[in-house]
Amino acid sequence: MSMQNNEPAAAGRNPMPPFEHRTALIYGSGRNIGREIAREFARRGARVAVADIDLAAANETVRLIAEAGGDATALQCDVMSNESVRETAAEAERRIGAIDILMNNAGILHSGNPEDFPMAEWERMISCNLLAMVRSIEFFMPKMIARGSGYIVNTASFAGLYPYAINRIPYAVSKAGVLSLTENLAIYLLPKGVRVSCLCPGPVMTDSPNSMKTFSGNVGLVGPGSHLRIKSQVETAKILADGMCAGRIVIPTHEEGLETLRQHAASPDEFIRAKIEAFSRGDHGKPSL
Ligand SMILES: NC(=O)c1ccc[n+]([C@@H]2O[C@H](COP(=O)([O-])OP(=O)(O)OC[C@H]3O[C@@H](n4cnc5c(N)ncnc54)[C@H](O)[C@@H]3O)[C@@H](O)[C@H]2O)c1
Repeated sequence: MSMQNNEPAAAGRNPMPPFEHRTALIYGSGRNIGREIAREFARRGARVAVADIDLAAANETVRLIAEAGGDATALQCDVMSNESVRETAAEAERRIGAIDILMNNAGILHSGNPEDFPMAEWERMISCNLLAMVRSIEFFMPKMIARGSGYIVNTASFAGLYPYAINRIPYAVSKAGVLSLTENLAIYLLPKGVRVSCLCPGPVMTDSPNSMKTFSGNVGLVGPGSHLRIKSQVETAKILADGMCAGRIVIPTHEEGLETLRQHAASPDEFIRAKIEAFSRGDHGKPSL
């Protein structure tokens, strides 16, 4: 069933429940945060298409949803390929109907010093973390505009909110791009009845660092702030779904991180100098458990 446009022009403020009887396609929902989001959307009544490069992982997400009484289908997709994203989008529509909620969650991580990333790695990072979203949005946005309804959700990161991620700069740049893409789309699409949200995870417990490519030996990952607590994937999925129900646009997993964002906005120069000083005294902003 397609989402009806019964929202006022100031769309996004209306806390209408976006899940029951809705369809959702989630790119990158085979495991970890994406899997928990798929489970949470399904728990709240959505029919979910689980798309991932790892079909076995996507099938496992579907199994978990079915076990809990939900409705889901698995699709294999490489978000780095224009064709694959389009084929997956069309196949998802065939299987579950017009897509109400498009979520772009697929993302890759890496580590290294800035001088050690080859151009090919910059291209891989931007293609997977940012252009992948453009690929799916290009497919669905005209349809959503024509219907005057729909919901686009993109996953960014605290690394794209303010500067600290000096040992994964291509990743941070890709996520800053996601934030800019999503916020600008929100301004454009909300008055047209299409809702937009950006999930901004701070530190969330996943095993993704185990599989990341490293380019400078073991440099270790600096974090967004030692005052932040590592959250669980389940908490993250609930924060997103609640934020969507509340009509939020930018949905950070850690509200306390917004104070850091305010400090950066107040004086980027001072913020950067303070960060240099903190790193030099060994405060690497590692979050706590
Ligand atoms: N874990 C964190 O602390 C954290 C923090 C900030 C942002 N994020 C972001 O949240 C999202 C999920 O993070 P996660 O930790 O669960 O990551 P993850 O690596 O565990 O999961 C990412 C999913 O995307 C899939 N994927 C990777 N490349 C793909 C491709 N080319 N095509 C299709 N699917 C592909 C993977 O198979 C996996 O299922 C990512 O966008 C990540 O950047 C995570």
